[in-house]
This record gives sequence, structure tokens and C-alpha cells, in this order.
Amino acid sequence: MAKRIQIEQNGGPEALQWAEVTPAEPKAGEVRVKNHAVGVNFIDIYFRDGLYKAPAMPTSLGTEGAGVIDAVGEGVTGLSVGDRVAYAQGPLGSYSEYHVLPAAKVVLLPGSIDFETAAAMMLKGLTCQYLLRQTAELKAGDVVLFHAAAGGVGTFACQWAKALGVKLIGTVSTEEKAALARANGAWEVINYSKEDVVERVKELTGGAMCDVVYDSVGKDTWLTSLDCLKSRGLMVSFGNSSGPVEGVNLAILNQKGSLFVTRPSLNGYADTPERLKAMCQDLFSVVANGDVKVQIGQRFALKDAAKAHIALASRQTTGSTVLLP
Ligand SMILES: NC(=O)c1ccc[n+]([C@@H]2O[C@H](COP(=O)([O-])OP(=O)(O)OC[C@H]3O[C@@H](n4cnc5c(N)ncnc54)[C@H](OP(=O)(O)O)[C@@H]3O)[C@@H](O)[C@H]2O)c1
Repeated sequence: MAKRIQIEQNGGPEALQWAEVTPAEPKAGEVRVKNHAVGVNFIDIYFRDGLYKAPAMPTSLGTEGAGVIDAVGEGVTGLSVGDRVAYAQGPLGSYSEYHVLPAAKVVLLPGSIDFETAAAMMLKGLTCQYLLRQTAELKAGDVVLFHAAAGGVGTFACQWAKALGVKLIGTVSTEEKAALARANGAWEVINYSKEDVVERVKELTGGAMCDVVYDSVGKDTWLTSLDCLKSRGLMVSFGNSSGPVEGVNLAILNQKGSLFVTRPSLNGYADTPERLKAMCQDLFSVVANGDVKVQIGQRFALKDAAKAHIALASRQTTGSTVLLP
């Protein structure tokens, strides 16, 4: 038997149950990972509260983790029992001592990266990889606005942007988070709980505004974000921390300067084993050369996943959050 966090129905953090289950056997093309560390992400909250629909109930949550392969299904090549691995994509169920998933979603972990670091970096780091290096191919001198700059994805973005020579303006809600974003390489920081973001972006850019805005806050920041772009700039809406953006009238993109908008996801970019591997190589190299330091702001026991969800949803966390089985 093994333990996992599961929900029987959507709800608040109290819906998370500490349950005993028999670990599933891997089917053809799958592996089973004995998790040593599990990543916590905002998407886990969307699946818990029902914004995103889980395929079945009861279900465990989570799509990110790191550990050791302890069983291999038929037809799997390149992965064996005992391998140190990490993963960042579905199916749901990483909030668990054992997780079964397709071998195609699992990558071998370099010896230099420990399990906690891996669980803290896979989903957020790969997201940052595609946002900065694929959704927009940023180059030195570009100016971008990145909301929630002291958060999980934001902490990767500040550092990676600095390494690329990109001027990242980060938004944050407190002075402590502002200091953190600055320390991580943000070019400038705006405390959006007390400053006018559009006016500050105007000042900071001499009126030129931003080439790209990365907005994971969603509902609360959508319009502000559009106003921070230069003509023909790119709006990357990649999350819903304050709620989803709904009811958009496309004409607004014309009114605000012939803007481009995209709503990307990690699964849409790491959609083949080859693409996943290439993205991991890029991520592992910036971590190995020290450009990006993985920062674990919070650790919780797996059974205390509810505490992690409460902290993340109430904006108390910085950097990455990991659960320890
Ligand atoms: N599309 C993708 O591929 C993809 C992949 C990974 C993550 N994401 C998205 O990226 C975002 C960041 O994920 P994360 O796991 O790294 O979380 P996070 O950034 O560590 O936490 C969310 C942050 O959003 C800010 N925020 C603003 N308004 C909020 C509100 N009403 N409620 C809660 N937080 C609010 C808070 O920072 P301040 O206090 O500084 O405002 C908070 O710390 C999430 O929206 C997530 O869904 C998308």
C-alpha cells in the first residue's frame, strides 16, 4: 500500500484527503516513479477547485515530481528500474508516493540535480523556457513586463531574462517580493498593489512601452497588460491566478495598437518527446552554468498539501514550493 493526496469532489483545500491506495502497475509504454519530491503549481489549485476538469474522480492531483523508477511497462526503451528521473506533465497524480505515467513524459535527471531541485524546476522552468525562448524569441535589449515576478515561474523568468540581456520589468504585491525580484535580476520592479503599472512602464521605457507582456494573473491584470504594450506588441496570457480572462472582444486588440495575443500551455510546446528533451537540455544548461538558481521558498510534507495550497492561493509563497513524501 502507499499514500497519496486525493479529492473525491472539487472544493477548497479541505477537499484534499490523505488516502491509502495500492500503487498501479505500469501498462505498456508507462513507468512507475517512486517520488522523492513533488512540485506544487497553481494548476493544481485549478484542478482542485474545478476551474479545470479532472478526467475522473476520485483523483490525485499534481503533474510534477522527481524520484526513482521502480517499475517499467512493456515496450519502454531508454528507461530502467533505478533510474533517477523527473517529469512536469500529466496525467494527474504526482501528489503521491508512487506515480505511473507515460515514459514519453519522463526525463533522466543529470547527477548534479537533486530530487527537490528537480521537483521545483521542471514545470516552472520548462514553462519559462518556452515563454522566453519560443513563444517570443527574446533578444538582448527587449523590454518585457512579467507579472508575479517573485512567484514560481516569475523567479525563473527574472533570472533567465537577465542572462539573455532582456530588460524584465516585474510586478509584485509587496516590498519583500520586490526585493526578491530585483535580487533575481529584474531590470525594474513595480509594486502593483500601490503603483500605477501603465504610468510606471511609460516612465521606465521613456514612453516606448513593452515588446512582450507575460500575464499569468489573468482577470485582474488583462486590460492593464494590454496598455503596457507598444504597437504590434505580444500579449502572452498564460494563467488565471486571479481568475480566467473571459468575454474578450477582439476589436480591443485593434484599438490598443494592432496587438498580438497568445494563450499558450506547456503541453502545447513540450508535445513530443524530442521537443521535451530539447527544452530540458536548455533548462538543465542554464541551471548547470549558474544563470538560473532554483529557489525553493517553501517545503511541506506531502500529507500537508492543503497547507501548501492555502499559502500559494493567498500569495504567501515565493519561488517554488515542494511536497516531501
Ligand atoms: N500556461 C502554462 O503553461 C503555465 C505553466 C505554469 C504556470 N502557469 C501559470 O503561471 C502562474 C504562476 O504559477 P506558479 O505556480 O508559479 O504560481 P506563483 O506565481 O508562485 O503564484 C501566483 C502568484 O500570482 C500573484 N497573484 C496575483 N493575483 C493573485 C490572486 N488573486 N490570487 C493568487 N495569486 C495572485 C501572486 O503574486 P503577487 O503577490 O506578487 O501578486 C502569487 O504569488 C499561474 O497562473 C499558473 O497557472 C501557466
